[in-house]
Amino acid sequence: MNGQTPMGLAAAAAAAVRPCRRRLLSSASTAGSKTAAGTATPLFPRLPHPHHPPYGRRLPFLVSAASQSQASQTGPDAPPTHIPVPIPSDPRAAVSGNLPFFDRVLFPDSFPLDTRPTKEDEDSSVQADEAVAPAPPVREETETEREAWRLLRRAVVSYCGEPVGTVAAEDPECTETLNYDQVFIRDFVPSALAFLMRGETEIVRNFLLHTLQLQSWEKTVDCYSPGQGLMPASFKIRTVPLDENNEGFEEVLDPDFGEAAIGRVAPVDSGLWWIILLRAYCKITGDNALLERVDVQTGIQLILSLCLSDGFDMFPTLLVTDGSCMIDRRMGIHGHPLEIQALFYSALRCSREMLVVNDGSKNLIRAINNRLSALSFHIREYYWVDMKKINEIYRYKTEEYSHDATNKFNIYPEQIPSWLVDWIPEKGGYLIGNLQPAHMDFRFFSLGNLWAIASSLTTPKQAEGILSLIEEKWDDLVANMPLKICYPAMEDDEWRIITGSDPKNTPWSYHNGGSWPTLLWQFTLACIKMGRPELARRAIAVAEERLSDDKWPEYYDTRSGRFIGKQSRSYQTWTIAGFLTSKMLLENPELASILTCDEDLELLEGCACCLSKKRTRCSRRAAMPHAG
Ligand code: GLC
Repeated sequence: MNGQTPMGLAAAAAAAVRPCRRRLLSSASTAGSKTAAGTATPLFPRLPHPHHPPYGRRLPFLVSAASQSQASQTGPDAPPTHIPVPIPSDPRAAVSGNLPFFDRVLFPDSFPLDTRPTKEDEDSSVQADEAVAPAPPVREETETEREAWRLLRRAVVSYCGEPVGTVAAEDPECTETLNYDQVFIRDFVPSALAFLMRGETEIVRNFLLHTLQLQSWEKTVDCYSPGQGLMPASFKIRTVPLDENNEGFEEVLDPDFGEAAIGRVAPVDSGLWWIILLRAYCKITGDNALLERVDVQTGIQLILSLCLSDGFDMFPTLLVTDGSCMIDRRMGIHGHPLEIQALFYSALRCSREMLVVNDGSKNLIRAINNRLSALSFHIREYYWVDMKKINEIYRYKTEEYSHDATNKFNIYPEQIPSWLVDWIPEKGGYLIGNLQPAHMDFRFFSLGNLWAIASSLTTPKQAEGILSLIEEKWDDLVANMPLKICYPAMEDDEWRIITGSDPKNTPWSYHNGGSWPTLLWQFTLACIKMGRPELARRAIAVAEERLSDDKWPEYYDTRSGRFIGKQSRSYQTWTIAGFLTSKMLLENPELASILTCDEDLELLEGCACCLSKKRTRCSRRAAMPHAG
């Protein structure tokens, strides 16, 4: 040691940080109607990972002849700054080239689309002069709120001297950090909202642009690379020496796409959250210039191209592996889990508002509309359960081979779990957790249901029904801490088989029926959207009583959420930020519009059965707003 303290080393490292990346952030130009059409616009370059060869697989339009020849001259270990800023040919080619299916979308005439946004879209689209202004505080903050702000600011991480996100948890008592010292995309959303509503927009802008830079980074799991457009689950800022002599250091962003995560699951929700946050940011700031940048527009398109690409699917829902969202461990949510579908729907609605309409994007926009239509019908019709529907399933005939089967997914009535028979209230209902051939997952998942309300994936009547079920089942879903991540817990053999005997997800703990205070902000959002703020107020009061005393835990355990979770972190950032966001939303309910979408009746008109003579029995009418 040369006598330098760790603090001294850190300061030396910070001083040695190269400012180049900051410069790059402000250098990308816009994708306005003309620039998007392939002029020589410098694109925000993807920076290579320090431990990976910088010239591996790249986006097609990033591989310019210049950069390739540079690669051969300088070798794979050349530092990132030696990469010339690539000149894109036509950025749209990266997307449409991968997606010939956009030209043969399912029902080409089902929309009067011709790529024009609907009137509703135009009204709600991001307009600089219509930006939703953050509201000034109208009262003095409580001590709990002041503490929350202090903790939230403590969680902020900087890159090249600028704030770029918040760590997942800053628990001084926890020796095993795992990846809680990273900035998770999904965890940052409530932090971002709290900052946005307070008028502190810079951190969100930086986060959006830096995570965009990480999209499609070189990452592999045992020699296999994830798909283009994938957003990481999290990232960490590392300080690495510039050379072997340790004379200078640079900061690098190191993303995790799931290749280091427990279980090695790719985060399907990250890109969807990124799009949702981008819209919220643009709506509140009116920063149209950011939205129109080539890299931002391309980023949206790449995420969508990954989600909309053809596969073996028969359903409009996204097919994903277990643990690919907030529940990032094995919990039997593989297939078509509601959470992903609700976020997918929301991200499609947000993208439709944000995509610059031009020749390059019109097919994509048409595909988005077709998917939105099919997806909302599918979820409203097949995921919805209430007393009446469960009784119908109870009397289902099975093994129906025909186009017009009532029991399309061949659900055996024996699948109705015994808890549900008594639990389902007379009034209200909810969207089930998952639907697969011969399988309905009847568990109630909070995030999916709440986000389905916020995004108008449900009908207004269904949305009311979900809130009335939560009210009716308050002691099960809220009790001592809002909100159960899912209900009920899996126990005994079911727990053993489905979780693989996961000791963290034991019954009524963590993801298996634990209570997650971060879900409070999504609950508040849904309540505001449905004109029921009093319900949110009630839940916030429950949380406020305990959160600070309990050191802002990540989750609570037991059937009624009485205990701080077994292995729960303290000072979990999205608990803190979720609380602040809920409070701020309640005080400024008009700000909810930066996150919500209104019912779009035109989507329901684009029905397959109207266009195809073969599909004679379509119950799409049931999905119309007047139905339940
Ligand atoms: C846990 C949660 C996940 C969250 C992460 C960081 O793994 O399941 O949703 O993003 O912790 O807080």
